[in-house]
Amino acid sequence: MADGTLKNLVPLSELPVLPSVPLLASLPWLYHREGFMARMAELAERHRHVGMFRVPMPDGREPIFVGNVSLATELCDEARFEKQLFGPLVHIRDFAGDGLFTALPDEANWHKANRILSPGFSSASIDRYFPAMTSALDELLEHWRRAASTKNAGVDVVADMTKLTLETISIAGFDYRFGSFGTPELHPFLKALARALQESIDVLRRPPLFAPLYAGRRARYQRDITSMFDLVDRVIVERRLVPQEQWPKDFLSLMLAEADPKTGERLSDENIRYQILTFLIAGHETTAGLLAFTFHQLARSPELFQAVRREVDEGLGTDDAPTMKDVMSLDLVRRVLSEGLRLWPTVPSIARAAKEDTVLAGRYEVPKGRPLGLLVNAIHRDPSVWKDPLKFDPDRFLPEAVKARPSAAYKPFGIGKRACTGKHFALVEATVCVALVVRAFDFADPGPLSVAPTVSPKPKGFRLVVTPRPR
Ligand code: HEM
Repeated sequence: MADGTLKNLVPLSELPVLPSVPLLASLPWLYHREGFMARMAELAERHRHVGMFRVPMPDGREPIFVGNVSLATELCDEARFEKQLFGPLVHIRDFAGDGLFTALPDEANWHKANRILSPGFSSASIDRYFPAMTSALDELLEHWRRAASTKNAGVDVVADMTKLTLETISIAGFDYRFGSFGTPELHPFLKALARALQESIDVLRRPPLFAPLYAGRRARYQRDITSMFDLVDRVIVERRLVPQEQWPKDFLSLMLAEADPKTGERLSDENIRYQILTFLIAGHETTAGLLAFTFHQLARSPELFQAVRREVDEGLGTDDAPTMKDVMSLDLVRRVLSEGLRLWPTVPSIARAAKEDTVLAGRYEVPKGRPLGLLVNAIHRDPSVWKDPLKFDPDRFLPEAVKARPSAAYKPFGIGKRACTGKHFALVEATVCVALVVRAFDFADPGPLSVAPTVSPKPKGFRLVVTPRPR
């Protein structure tokens, strides 16, 4: 580095920082009625000119949150920065192990699984899983028809989208049906998963000194993990007992049958278990939140709703069973979903770290490994790139508009080699869901949107009165 450049360097201690008190660090300043990530987006807005701020945490660490597109462009540079396991992901690794989502940068099993699984998740391969998607959707449509024919107090959209996406990923993942639409109670496995995910978040808010107070919660967490492992391990053993020609076309069969094209090695049963849990964790809440926000928006925008319905009627016909090819032709639905993910990214931040000591924005010295939280929810509303950022406008995703903006301005599916494996799966699943629901039901206006304070944001208290479309 030239001397002239060195003179302009500024230590990170000069960045804006949240106040801090002993034990709790910045916790008292992190409250927001829509949750921690909404508070981070608010702070990013306030510090937009610098683009970064520091947040002291009770465990002594002090991540830097980054919230403008210009700095996001730097963080997306894979030569300088990489994914870091930070926040809840560190704890989710207790039960997702070295599965794709929680593998450490460059962990050997990540490379192996990535080579084995990526072809099965490519856009060309998704039609294998289309029957899983439509089969789970049939259950949702039936459930909503029944709801509409009874007292019709509205359907609980977030709960139903969660059931839909869990059923879809479990059928596509390991040919397993939890029967979520048949009972008001969640399957015990899904309850264990939900509790374990919640514990991985709650543990972050506990000052280390208070840990002994939570021994009961920790014991339950361990029991939940054991029960999840038991079910998935049983499914793997049972699959091996069936002759291979009879295996269903799911991700489990793919992982058991395929060897790594580079090394010729197969995934171990333990790693297969972690991958299955990974698909369940990474692949349900995110898509469920996207669908719930999208339905809320459509219910509030009658003109957009009608435009989407016209496209669906023309593309799929008014009654026919959809084909994957027809679904892929629904351009407006896809743009509506893209815009939904812009305004309400269901993974609102991504943890990165410098691979070597580096300089951000030409002046801030960032040491190797220092946690950097890229605030996707803030860059998606950065007014330097997004005109009128709060307006819902699917035309932002017309090809010319996409080409005209920096790619770092829109990162709902993550960055570079650690970007979402399930992106095509999620988009096909969400497109066919929107298409079939809009084709079948009219929506009443649910009133203004409010957002729940969950890590993956979703509409709060969203009940939608649906009535079968008059024929
Ligand atoms: C709208 C829905 C979805 C969104 C917004 C989303 C978003 C993301 C994001 C942002 C990441 C990167 C996380 C990070 O850097 O720490 C990621 C990773 C991942 N996602 Fe998704 N996801 C969605 C659906 C799915 C689905 C349906 C699946 C599985 C079928 C899936 C599987 C994965 C996996 C395996 C990874 C880890 C990739 C790796 O590190 O190699 N996702 N996702």
